[in-house]
Amino acid sequence: MRLDKFLCESTELTRSESKRLLKTGSVSVEGVIVKNPACKVTDDAEILLDGAPLTLVGSRYIMLNKPVDTICSTHSGTRAELYPSVIDLLNVIKSDRLRIAGRLDVDTTGLVLITDDGQWSHKITSPVKKCGKRYRVELAMPPDQSAIEQFAQGIQLQGEKKRTRPAQLEFISHQEVLLTIHEGKYHQVKRMFAALGNRVTALHREQIGSITLDPDLEAGEWRYLTEDEINSVQEVTS
Ligand code: URA
Repeated sequence: MRLDKFLCESTELTRSESKRLLKTGSVSVEGVIVKNPACKVTDDAEILLDGAPLTLVGSRYIMLNKPVDTICSTHSGTRAELYPSVIDLLNVIKSDRLRIAGRLDVDTTGLVLITDDGQWSHKITSPVKKCGKRYRVELAMPPDQSAIEQFAQGIQLQGEKKRTRPAQLEFISHQEVLLTIHEGKYHQVKRMFAALGNRVTALHREQIGSITLDPDLEAGEWRYLTEDEINSVQEVTS
């Protein structure tokens, strides 16, 4: 690709800013100062800006441990004035390209996957792909054992024509359960329990497909996914 394009794809610089910068002689390619914006470079060329190496952004795959009082939104708006977006926690360049693969409510915590690869994200969010999302749920009241069967049969949510897809419920303690769902309707987990006359008091997402929230990540921390984690989405859901 052209050198000025490489600069745009590895920094926040615009094309015209890149061209201006090149004229100053602060960019070297394989050890040689290059001022020509049309110079062709390979993706893995050693390109330094004021001595610091530049790398192409490429496709990014991120897991974040969402804290409470943050929103899964990429746009600013009234809510964004009240709560920061999870994207703001990343502090990476070209964050406007990033999309959230499966949003969580402002008061929900846990695993959020963020990427600029639209196809990969679609494999997680499309109900057709049936990618499982596992939640740890705290409830206002101890649920009845019969809830296991009700979730397995699908729950009739208010305002929906069809029942939810079969979901798997496991009891952890009196008022704490694990619930795995395979779709992502608006406030789905809270509405499922509301349909059974219960109320969710805390909600935490632990797993998406076979990607589990890294226990080393404190609330608000993030890391890039491993190759295996990225590829697992294809294997599990396609
Ligand atoms: N279901 C909910 O009700 N809220 C979430 O944040 C995620 C799933």
